[in-house]
Amino acid sequence: MSENEQIPDHNPEQAKKHRRIRSFVVRAGRMTEGQQRAYEENWAEYGLDAEAGMLDYQALFGNQGPVTVEIGFGMGDSLIEMARRAPDKNFIGIEVHPPGVGRLLARAKEEGLNNIRVYCEDAIEVLARCIPDSSLAGAQLFFPDPWHKKRHNKRRIVQPEFAQTIRAKLTIGGVFHMATDWEPYSEHMMEVMSAAEGYKNQAGEGQFSPQPDFRPVTKFQKRGEKLGHGVWDLMFERIS
Ligand SMILES: C[S@@+](CC[C@H](N)C(=O)[O-])C[C@H]1O[C@@H](n2cnc3c(N)ncnc32)[C@H](O)[C@@H]1O
Repeated sequence: MSENEQIPDHNPEQAKKHRRIRSFVVRAGRMTEGQQRAYEENWAEYGLDAEAGMLDYQALFGNQGPVTVEIGFGMGDSLIEMARRAPDKNFIGIEVHPPGVGRLLARAKEEGLNNIRVYCEDAIEVLARCIPDSSLAGAQLFFPDPWHKKRHNKRRIVQPEFAQTIRAKLTIGGVFHMATDWEPYSEHMMEVMSAAEGYKNQAGEGQFSPQPDFRPVTKFQKRGEKLGHGVWDLMFERIS
C-alpha cells in the first residue's frame, strides 16, 4: 500500500459515530493561579483548537522538521524535556486535563520553546480532524489510564481501531511509542499491537523495548515505581 492510500479500517466519520466510550474522565482539579495566567498569556502562542481543522505544519512551526504527537501528556514535564532536547523536531501535545495544559503552557514559555504546540481536547477528535494522514514521525502514549477493573478494560485507549487510527497518521517508518507501568495493560498493548496490520515491533516479535534515553521519566512512571510497579515500553514502526 502506498503511503497516501486510505487504510481500510480507518474512517474518521465512522470512528466519530461509534466512539462514545471515552478513555478519560475529566478529573476535578482547579487550575492554580499560575496555570490560569499561563493560559491567558500563552494560549495565543502555543494553543491549538480542533475547530480550526487540519494542520499545516510548515505554517505552524515555520520549518519542515519531523512532527511527533503526544497523547495524554499529563502535567507535561516529560514532553517539555523532549522538546527542549530536540530543537530540530516539532511536538504537538494533546491533553484533556486543563491544569496540565496550563502547566505545559507556562513551562513552554519559560523555556522559550518554539517547537511545541498544544490542544486541550480529546485526542480522538484531534487525530480525526487536525492531523493529516501519513504525516507523523512519531506518536507517543506514555502511561495511559490503565482502567484496572475488568468491566472498565474497554475504556483503554489502545484498541485495534486506535492502532489503525495511529497508523494512518504515521509516515512509513514512523513509530508508535507506548509505555505503561501496569503489567496487564502492557500485555494488552502487546496483543493488540502484534495483531495490528502494517506494523513491525522494533524489539522483535513479542518483545518489550528497553526505555530509550530520549524518553524522560514521567510523573506517572515515578508514581508507579514508588508503588513497586515495573515499566514496559513498546515501539512499533509503521511498515505499510
Ligand atoms: C495516567 S495519566 C499519564 C500522564 C503522563 N503521560 C505521565 O506519564 O505522567 C493519563 C493522561 O491521559 C489523559 N487522557 C486520557 N485519554 C485522553 C484522550 N482521549 N485525549 C487526551 N488526553 C487523554 C488523561 O487526562 C491523563 O492526564
